[in-house]
Amino acid sequence: MSLPKNEYVSDVWKNGLFANKVVFCTGGSGSICSAQVRALVHLGANACIVGRQVAKTERVAKDIATARNGAKVLGIGSVDVRNIESLQKAVEKCVSELGRIDFVIAGAAGNFLAPINQLSTNAFKSVMDIDVLGSYNTIKATLPHLVKSAGNHRNDGKTANPAGTGGRIIFISATIHYTTAPFQTHVSVAKAGVDALSHSAAVEFGPRGVTSNIIAPGPISGSEGMERLATKEGNATARKSVPLGRYGTVKEIADATVYLFSDAGNFVNGQALVVDGAAWRTHSSNPGSAFPYPDFLLNDEAITGVKGGKKSKL
Ligand code: COA
Repeated sequence: MSLPKNEYVSDVWKNGLFANKVVFCTGGSGSICSAQVRALVHLGANACIVGRQVAKTERVAKDIATARNGAKVLGIGSVDVRNIESLQKAVEKCVSELGRIDFVIAGAAGNFLAPINQLSTNAFKSVMDIDVLGSYNTIKATLPHLVKSAGNHRNDGKTANPAGTGGRIIFISATIHYTTAPFQTHVSVAKAGVDALSHSAAVEFGPRGVTSNIIAPGPISGSEGMERLATKEGNATARKSVPLGRYGTVKEIADATVYLFSDAGNFVNGQALVVDGAAWRTHSSNPGSAFPYPDFLLNDEAITGVKGGKKSKL
């Protein structure tokens, strides 16, 4: 049974908005990215999602395809964004089966909580590799297709191109590095790099009609990110620090995606669209009351109660 529409996209967008378009998404089986792709598919696009896990990626792709009769959604597993060859193969498969790539979402990311003194060089490198190198590999592998699509969908800002829009990439980033939070050095450094990458792409490929933007989600209910950052008890406290008084929904990130890829987003380039209810403006240095600042750091405690805890080596 397909997911009710109001769980992943608003009613404000017209059906068929992305007819004949193809979106390529890394990390596409995750909670946020799958909602983004589902929204685009509902509005007419076909899609290719890639991920490390084969069964999960294929299962989520099948599920996303239920968003519209006749939708084609490929789920390609065994793709690690750290490995450019595996990404290039996925891009080739996507183009050979779906014909093109008009939109890209670079969503694959790594996240866990750890202070620097509990963060090994390899742990830091893992997140840098997934987020920064992975995002770089994603744009490298898809750029020829984005440039081609942008060329076919030029717009003058006055009259909508009858062929629609194309040649757009969105990087999924975060807001942690706007202020800084303990236990998140690796993610802050990585997301600052992702932001810089997006801005550079906007400047270098804008002249070819490609747009590159960032969506920086705030705390989103039920997302893997929140499971990794806050304990159940911490969630209650953290909700109160969001000026809008609640966590966001995956639908709200999907709506931002539709906006940026649609005719309404034609002149938006090199930007970060923060969708967080103004949460980052009140960032406490405490992602969950289970890890009170600075006592938790001074006690050298290990972080427990969140997803993605450090596994002990056999
Ligand atoms: N605290 C401290 N170190 C941790 C950790 C934690 N909670 N979790 C993993 N690490 C360390 C590992 O111990 C290892 O370092 P070591 O070799 O010095 O021991 C290093 O990180 C790499 O871990 P490994 O599990 O081998 O890497 P991986 O490539 O399989 O996984 C991660 C990458 C660690 C980022 C993992 O959390 C992941 O796969 N995340 C993807 C999903 C995700 O984070 N989504 C969130 C999106 S918001």
